[in-house]
Amino acid sequence: MKTAMIFGTRPEAIKMAPLYIKMKENGIDVKVIATAQHREMLDQVLELFEIKPDYDLNIMKKNQSLPELTSRLLIAIDEILKIEKFDYVLVQGDTTSSFVGSLTAFYNKIPVGHVEAGLRTNDIYNPFPEEMNRRLTGTIALHHFASTQKAKENLLKENVEEKNIIVTGNTVIDALLWVKQNKNKDIEKIKEKYNIKNKKFILVTMHRRENWGKPIENVMKAIKRYLHENEEMYIVFPVHLNPVVRESVYKILGNEEKAILIDPVEYLEFIALMDSSHYIMTDSGGIQEEAPTLGKPTLVLRKTTERPEAIEAGTAKLIGTEEETVYQAMKELETEQYTKMSKASNPFGDGKASERIIEFLKEEFNGQK
Ligand code: UD1
Ligand code: UDP
Repeated sequence: MKTAMIFGTRPEAIKMAPLYIKMKENGIDVKVIATAQHREMLDQVLELFEIKPDYDLNIMKKNQSLPELTSRLLIAIDEILKIEKFDYVLVQGDTTSSFVGSLTAFYNKIPVGHVEAGLRTNDIYNPFPEEMNRRLTGTIALHHFASTQKAKENLLKENVEEKNIIVTGNTVIDALLWVKQNKNKDIEKIKEKYNIKNKKFILVTMHRRENWGKPIENVMKAIKRYLHENEEMYIVFPVHLNPVVRESVYKILGNEEKAILIDPVEYLEFIALMDSSHYIMTDSGGIQEEAPTLGKPTLVLRKTTERPEAIEAGTAKLIGTEEETVYQAMKELETEQYTKMSKASNPFGDGKASERIIEFLKEEFNGQK
């Protein structure tokens, strides 16, 4: 079974890496088509997991529009699928790379497996364009690898056949545990290098399109106020490379001494930061899934979430992006709520998602390699 994995952003690479490593260990013929929708942020991840793409489309341009990215990707992926004749294509999540990867596979009549299938907010503009990307990918895909039972239920509601939905847990936990197991010494070294062990800091990330402009600025103002009132607290914020995001963040926090603004850090470094943080504030999906494995409460800077499991399990709290609400939520984490949130268990998996996907594929394709 000749398989292509198509991905291009940082989170896709993190979530596909453990599956790729396991597929190789199992002798499966798998090739990576890296769209490089994120150039620098992708390369860091590939290096850490020692993955060399078979194809690199180098598609990223600064400030590219969604239609421009979509159309260039469609042509570039098609050229490769025409040469290679794959039997199966794997895509992950909800980016433009995953949607266009699956659409191009469809045009070439190649069946698609969707990793992290079934996430829904049921609002097509929230998150934008991810909610539409994952719905469209779900319509095209034959196999749906869902992280949780809830994701499976979402797919059933859309009339996906039950035999094609496989609940596996999220591969991000596989990735996190792989790094902790294989690179733990490096993580400890990073903590020493930054001298972060004894500092009390909140780790912040924020980049989603629906938060651009006012929402990001509101949150930055709330953080600024909190930092002024709490002398011992810092924030560490690896700011996404998107220029629109950077402008809003630097405008408000650029001159704040206790706001440590840095460029996106390598995954290894990010794990060290998560591990040492007091808690996390983010609009990221992957981070909400990783945080509970490390026992870190998470304040989710969004209006809706496709990951209600985290809220229900009590590891995360959905706080929106209004200045006052965000500030109050930070204050609340000074209470016993903190201990409760840090002790809740992880609803997103046990680190065996890749194994389950491979078991299914082996059975489905009758032991073909
Ligand atoms: C993309 C995905 C989003 C995913 C997010 C993860 C789409 C439409 N969006 O959003 O679903 O959650 O990645 O982070 O697929 N840039 C760089 N270097 C990089 C990465 C980005 O310079 O390594 C800059 C470029 O100016 C680029 C811009 O960021 O044009 C936006 O990148 P893009 O991939 O279009 O969107 P994201 O906001 O990163
Ligand atoms: N991450 C990283 N470096 C950073 C910030 C995040 O390696 O500076 C990792 C993080 O651990 C998680 C993933 O990137 O696994 C999340 O990516 P992002 O927030 O861009 O996307 P999303 O999860 O929202 O799709």
